[in-house]
Amino acid sequence: MSWLPELRLVVADRTDLTPTVRRFALRRPDGGPLPGYEPGAHVTLTTPAGHRRSYSLVEPGGEAPGEYVVCVRRDPAGRGGSASMHDDVVVGTGLTATGPRNRFPLLPAKRYLFIAGGIGITPIRSMATRLRAEGCADLRLLYLTRTAEDAPFLDEFPDATAHHSAGRGRLDLWPHLATPDDDTRVYCCGPLPLIRSVRALTAHWRPSRVHVEEFTAPDGYAAPFTAVWAPTGRRVDVPANRSLLSALRGAGVAVDSSCEAGTCGTCRLAVLDGGVEHRDAALTDEERRASLLSCVSRAAAEEITVGPVTG
Ligand code: FES
Repeated sequence: MSWLPELRLVVADRTDLTPTVRRFALRRPDGGPLPGYEPGAHVTLTTPAGHRRSYSLVEPGGEAPGEYVVCVRRDPAGRGGSASMHDDVVVGTGLTATGPRNRFPLLPAKRYLFIAGGIGITPIRSMATRLRAEGCADLRLLYLTRTAEDAPFLDEFPDATAHHSAGRGRLDLWPHLATPDDDTRVYCCGPLPLIRSVRALTAHWRPSRVHVEEFTAPDGYAAPFTAVWAPTGRRVDVPANRSLLSALRGAGVAVDSSCEAGTCGTCRLAVLDGGVEHRDAALTDEERRASLLSCVSRAAAEEITVGPVTG
């Protein structure tokens, strides 16, 4: 993977967009220009408490922006990254960042259908702002949140289909996806269940027309399984509340890691036997056929055999 320089940034502005979502504007200490980016890009920040977290850039980007703007939703069930951003970061706080990197690029199309789940609105807001500036009017947004209060930037999308699930249940996406259209690109960003649903409901679309990004590594782990470490044959139990990476390390297997959020690729392992529930935002489809990112991904069944990546 490509090496990205570390940037030292300072928080220039901090604003609450909703009771749970806070906006941070980050600049170089000398106010100079930052590396450019395109819509869909993210930066990885190290929070004051030491967590590395990737956040989408919400502005439309360009060649030499003066600031990076990210929005962070406080996740009370999270592992501390969002809490540190909310509790420890004030105007003037210095943060290190890597990036920008873009694994969710905005590609040309006649029409766009955006599906945003919660804070998944952030890369989509960047894309929509860019498209509007370029005169593209044919974009639709399905914006799915628990309540209207949880929906930052909602006022920027007066034509959006905004669905708030509290008391109403989930929006039926099928009417919006039933008819495939090669002139439309579908972009979906949100939590894993939404990604899965959109993937399933667009199985009859041309794959190149459907783009998805899970906005964060899941904090909860679904089911326990057993990992067999191929070089030694050692069997390692991976409990429901523990990552494969953590369980292997607990058993004395050395595996490198960096982001521990499924975005950097450092913790990649070869899969020698067994199915995988991929939860990362880094591997290509080709790479997923024979490897996984152990910090977030899990066995799809009761057992999986993994080992170091070779070659
Ligand atoms: S440590 Fe970065 S993807 Fe696993």
